[in-house]
Amino acid sequence: MFSGGDFLPLVKEQYEALPYPPRDPLRERERLIQRASDNLITLNHHCFGGRKDFRDGFRALVAGGGTGDSTIYLAEQLRGFDAEIVHLDLSVAAMSIAQERARIRGLSDIRWVNASIMGLPGLGLGEFDYINCTGVLHHLESSEAGLAALRDVLRPDGVILLMLYGRYGRRSVYDMQALLREHLPADTGIAEKIRMTRALLAALPETNSFRRDQGRWDYEISATGFGDAGLYDLLLHSQDRCFDVPDLYALAGAAGLDILCFVDRAAAYRPETYLGAAAGASALLQGLDMQRRQAIAEILTGDLIAHEFYLGRQDLHQPASFDNDRNALSLAGAMHGHHREIGASLAAGRKLTITGRSGVLHMAGNPLNSALFANMDAVTPLAQVYERVRANVPDFLPDKVRAAVQEICRALHDQGHLYLLEAGAYGVKVPNYTRLPPPPLPGVK
Ligand SMILES: C[S@@+](CC[C@H](N)C(=O)[O-])C[C@H]1O[C@@H](n2cnc3c(N)ncnc32)[C@H](O)[C@@H]1O
Repeated sequence: MFSGGDFLPLVKEQYEALPYPPRDPLRERERLIQRASDNLITLNHHCFGGRKDFRDGFRALVAGGGTGDSTIYLAEQLRGFDAEIVHLDLSVAAMSIAQERARIRGLSDIRWVNASIMGLPGLGLGEFDYINCTGVLHHLESSEAGLAALRDVLRPDGVILLMLYGRYGRRSVYDMQALLREHLPADTGIAEKIRMTRALLAALPETNSFRRDQGRWDYEISATGFGDAGLYDLLLHSQDRCFDVPDLYALAGAAGLDILCFVDRAAAYRPETYLGAAAGASALLQGLDMQRRQAIAEILTGDLIAHEFYLGRQDLHQPASFDNDRNALSLAGAMHGHHREIGASLAAGRKLTITGRSGVLHMAGNPLNSALFANMDAVTPLAQVYERVRANVPDFLPDKVRAAVQEICRALHDQGHLYLLEAGAYGVKVPNYTRLPPPPLPGVK
């Protein structure tokens, strides 16, 4: 059934018939999809010490870019810079949607390549500073060979972002896949498989593991979400492999690369997040290295449906440090660019509740918090932030201010809400994420 060629024919057939994720290019006129792991501030913090200047010949490859979410977001952030993006995918149908999205947005610095990841080293595309490969390697005949092909076109100090399925978070999905393999005749066509799967889902008893878990997959498979493309991708894929934490380290090691960090979910990979002060927890964890602890955290939480992580060479990369007073604070996601309003709201005594993927943080509306948030402007160095905060809490000694600020910043960072960048010293320019230009209206110059 599978060829020994450089892609799997059934995988190509699926993504030609059902491009993923399904996207309507016309929606580019009203919204920009922003993926946290492709945010250049996040990448800069985790991998380049907050010092990377993306204007200087930066080259990004989106490998298995699908319908273009990452390509479009990267291209918007790099718009106007001396940078190049290559979007590669084996599905012509998926790539056409990505191309139309880029056309509507007026993004022209994207090179489109219809080819397989496995052929990358021979395509003459040059080397890349950043390779995004999300949701793809687990669909290859050999994830190891796929990663080796990516590594071969990575600059020595480059970084790869991978997203791979998680073993424990998707358990009930694999139960359902096994059931469907039993239930559906092997030679059934795509449309008929979808019809039969929907009929089976509707008939599942309440005790079924996928039915019990179904709330989490509703968007993926419902008509108001990813619909048939999502259903097929989740439950009917011809090639689907999952990874636990030890598998990830083995995969990275086989390619001669290091796992630099799990993107914006550091807390999720720490057993303490779940065990807290539970009796016996510290004895259980004592003496375990980071990899073992992360493996335990994955089993403890049981809900990591995917792993998103950066790969590179450990000796060439380090994260930005909260102990470097030249670093500035940059809020992420929906809070980015709203530091002043948040600061004003905290100054008025209002509490701030921040809900993230790994938990909820509460910030009291007090003078310290208000001055701190008001200065999370991606420009002011920490040294100055400490002074400005202290001016708001004159009773605090400088050491106390520093300790309090660092504690809050680390907590925000752990949950993916705050990153550091050395803005002043290196002239790193980042787009104003709150005001990314709307795409031009058709026919209007
Ligand atoms: C699940 S989609 C993910 C798309 C995109 N990376 C994202 O995160 O939205 C997988 C994509 O990988 C592409 N793909 C699968 N195997 C590939 C290969 N060997 N070479 C290039 N693209 C491949 C498929 O065509 C599909 O568009």
